[in-house]
Amino acid sequence: MRTTTPIEELDLYVWEGKADIVERVARCMASLDVEVIRADDTPVNPQRLAARASIAVVSVSAIDTSALVLRDWQATHGMPVIWVGAAPRDNDPAMYPAEYSYILPLDFTCAELRGLVSKLVLQLRAHSAQTAGADALVAESEPMRALMREIETFADCDTSVLVHGETGTGKERIAELLHRKHSRYGGGPFVAVNCGAIPDGLFESLFFGHAKGSFTGAALAHKGYFEQADGGTLFLDEIGDLPLYQQVKLLRVLEDGTVTRIGSATPMKVDFRLVAATNRQLPNLVKEGSFRADLYYRLAVIELIVPSLEERGAIDKIALFKAFIATVVGAERLDGLPELPYWLADSVAAMRFPGNVRELRNLAERIGVTVRQTGTWDATRLRRLLAGALGAQASAPADSALQPVVDRSKWDMAERSRLLAALDQNGWRRKDTAQFLGISRKVLWEKIRKYQIFDEEPETRESE
Ligand SMILES: Nc1ncnc2c1ncn2[C@@H]1O[C@H](COP(=O)(O)OP(=O)(O)OP(=O)(O)O)[C@@H](O)[C@H]1O
Ligand SMILES: [Mg+2]
Repeated sequence: MRTTTPIEELDLYVWEGKADIVERVARCMASLDVEVIRADDTPVNPQRLAARASIAVVSVSAIDTSALVLRDWQATHGMPVIWVGAAPRDNDPAMYPAEYSYILPLDFTCAELRGLVSKLVLQLRAHSAQTAGADALVAESEPMRALMREIETFADCDTSVLVHGETGTGKERIAELLHRKHSRYGGGPFVAVNCGAIPDGLFESLFFGHAKGSFTGAALAHKGYFEQADGGTLFLDEIGDLPLYQQVKLLRVLEDGTVTRIGSATPMKVDFRLVAATNRQLPNLVKEGSFRADLYYRLAVIELIVPSLEERGAIDKIALFKAFIATVVGAERLDGLPELPYWLADSVAAMRFPGNVRELRNLAERIGVTVRQTGTWDATRLRRLLAGALGAQASAPADSALQPVVDRSKWDMAERSRLLAALDQNGWRRKDTAQFLGISRKVLWEKIRKYQIFDEEPETRESE
């Protein structure tokens, strides 16, 4: 009988050194859906590595051969490693990072090898399910779909991209998507740097790296961000915060494609795709003289605008809310629960999130934890959480122009009571209530939002 692996398309890369194990591994795996690849003399193809589940089987005799630049390789690829012929006492954590390392004796049996491989395959599968869930990019609303279509249009064109959007809208997620799915650099590293958080005086060292012994304390050579991103994508977040003198240096690297480490005289070629993001209006900064025009034009070859959550509307708010709840509660447990209650979805749709997806995510995760603990959509507790979130919004300092300042003294309490009564009388069904009051559903929604109604009603009104 043909046994299938839990992961389809598993690759086993074997570095055999002097140990002659490729044939043996291939024989042990013959009945499984596994590709055994001799890796000693074939460079690993990064595209393939990114697309398929992979495990390395490495004979310790291959260490220090030129084919195996160990630490770089592990750091970049992070595939689990089965060391063959290593004794546990050889398990030097610097050499074999524990989270990736497993050990087999040189005279391993097929059962031992297969047992270990299936265990790792299960781990890989759990990990990829987790990241796929967390990774799924919600884009149901028309503005987000339009953005996705735009991204498709620029697929495989490797020019610089400037991603623009309010805080928390998902600019970094878009950058990752461009990298992973729409770039020939997708198999390489994704190096994200927050330009607003670079300590003074460290720019050169962080971006350009330094040669061994180039200054006191520089015992080891160090790769800067440009070199780390070689073959992949360099994501420069908050690019508008980069001081002018650093902008010049960045521009120079973009123009001649080389970097020179501090303390070294040898320029090195680097090849990466640049994606930058900002929530500021760069053209204004250019006018003010705090952002170089030449750098702006260089970055904004393609400009993408990520819509705010308010522009995306209820459809995305609810889809995101459900997705975040599912990651906390777990899809299986969630299946055992009743549907997301109407009042909860409705409340989330009516809320404003000045911090965009990030803020909605925080709320959803807090709610998810409660749902996981109680095993129900416990209306009393969840309403309290919603009320808390609204209270926090209302009392947050009005430093953001988008922050809705809730001033309850301006509320028309009589209107609010009428609304509550009408909702009550109509079983909290929005459609019926709107009809009853002779207003449109949209106006009703606005009023509910304005008066933060789900904030304060008594629990007895719960319909769920
Ligand atoms: N479309 C989406 N689908 C699922 N999760 C998303 C989506 N957009 C954003 N997120 C999540 O929202 C949070 C904020 O996203 P991200 O960090 O990409 O925003 P940002 O625009 O870069 O924020 P900032 O302006 O603060 O740098 C992250 O946890 C991210 O995973
Ligand atoms: Mg960001």
